[in-house]
Amino acid sequence: MTLPRLYDDLAYLWPLLSPPEHYEAEAAALTELIDQHCQAESDEPIRVLELGAGGGHTLVHLVERFECTAVDLSVPMIGNCKRLVPEATAVIGDMRSVRLDKTFDAVFIHDAVDYMLSEQDVRATLATAAAHLKPGGLCVIAPTYTRENFVDGDVADDGTTTDSEELTYFTYVHDPDPADDTFEMILLYLIRDVQSRKVELIEDRHTCGLFSNEQWLSWMDDAGFESQHGEAHVDAMPWSLFVGIKK
Ligand SMILES: C[S@@+](CC[C@H](N)C(=O)[O-])C[C@H]1O[C@@H](n2cnc3c(N)ncnc32)[C@H](O)[C@@H]1O
Repeated sequence: MTLPRLYDDLAYLWPLLSPPEHYEAEAAALTELIDQHCQAESDEPIRVLELGAGGGHTLVHLVERFECTAVDLSVPMIGNCKRLVPEATAVIGDMRSVRLDKTFDAVFIHDAVDYMLSEQDVRATLATAAAHLKPGGLCVIAPTYTRENFVDGDVADDGTTTDSEELTYFTYVHDPDPADDTFEMILLYLIRDVQSRKVELIEDRHTCGLFSNEQWLSWMDDAGFESQHGEAHVDAMPWSLFVGIKK
């Protein structure tokens, strides 16, 4: 699988582009769900696994409360995660096939699930989540978009400055073919070197999966979860949460 440049040679931009504080509200919602559904056995800590943990920007808000494990396919992103959240166990793996030979109280997949492009990918990923949960364990899946809340042509821009560079970026999402199960997210980075004042413009295209609420719930059901759909808004962005309890 070829990863987009943001998770490869441009992974150093991740903490600038989408800093950990952007994940605080989502992490608070996840913490609430984990507290509601998972009880620690005796003195054991509650064990939480994130599939597609990226730079650990969500886990950094959870690690004080829970014993955290991060899985991600990208070596540089796991490197970011190790630097930010050294307390978490970090593992390189594909969420569709990784097997850690241990179970957790909760497994969640946040925006990384966007990179599952087909029913087959999603089913394999849900099988991974199920394989890592004990009966009664909590599974939370949070795609950025579902068919129901997708905004065709959505644009966002932001920027940040470090000692050496000024980063400005634009995100544009669109659905080139509504008949298939994907959309495209185009990222444009303008990186200005503070010393030379030269600006580099980089285009980075991401293909992402787009499925309906009904598809998510039915695939979760088939994977062995009692599941329900909840919708939240975090920083004005729609956030669809699929919450499953392993039967
Ligand atoms: C938007 S980032 C995740 C950010 C993360 N939520 C955080 O808190 O930093 C998406 C991540 O999905 C990972 N990814 C994409 N496909 C994957 C796969 N098949 N298995 C595991 N990770 C994958 C990428 O390497 C990338 O780190």
